[in-house]
Amino acid sequence: MKFDSRYATVEDVQVVSRIISQYWQPSLDYSAEVVKEDNIFLVAEYKDEELGKPILAGMALANIIKWNKTGYLLEIAVDKGNKRSGVGKTLIAGLSHIGKKRGIRSVIAETQPSNIVAMDFYISQGFRLCGFNDRYYTNTPKSSRDVAIFFSLDL
Ligand SMILES: CC(C)(COP(=O)(O)OP(=O)(O)OC[C@H]1O[C@@H](n2cnc3c(N)ncnc32)[C@H](O)[C@@H]1OP(=O)(O)O)[C@@H](O)C(=O)NCCC(=O)NCCS
Repeated sequence: MKFDSRYATVEDVQVVSRIISQYWQPSLDYSAEVVKEDNIFLVAEYKDEELGKPILAGMALANIIKWNKTGYLLEIAVDKGNKRSGVGKTLIAGLSHIGKKRGIRSVIAETQPSNIVAMDFYISQGFRLCGFNDRYYTNTPKSSRDVAIFFSLDL
């Protein structure tokens, strides 16, 4: 299947939230994120031949940090039914393409060491491990003692 990425619109927000909620509780106001100028908010879609319309299969939201010309990947998620089909790859390619045009020198992604799929994914897309932060998550007594690890992709 062929996937294409494009900037998200307010009309995509409901489906974006539905995709994200397959993995975690959506915590952002995606309608507000769509219109923020310092964001690169992308969706990936494919054309459903039977329905004759595009279907959203994934999303990626990066925030541009101006002072160090970095795109900080806040969220990336692919619809469970479309995983391992190249949707994530399409989104990272889209982020890289737009990021370069907007003067970004690297994309930073963060995950937990327990998310092996995410780590394999980032490394497969050319990211390299660039650090960790053991104070990043709230880690209340009730939660696990998660450490955040960071990956960077030079553009
Ligand atoms: C991580 C995620 C975005 C990857 O998206 P995806 O569309 O499934 O990934 P792709 O199909 O583009 O895969 C590209 C490459 O990543 C690697 N990869 C992806 N899924 C993998 C898996 N389950 N196991 C091992 N490697 C994997 C492979 O090298 C793959 O290339 P290949 O299929 O040719 O071998 C997706 O699994 C997801 O939404 N996960 C849940 C949300 C999440 O954890 N987000 C990241 C942290 S915020």
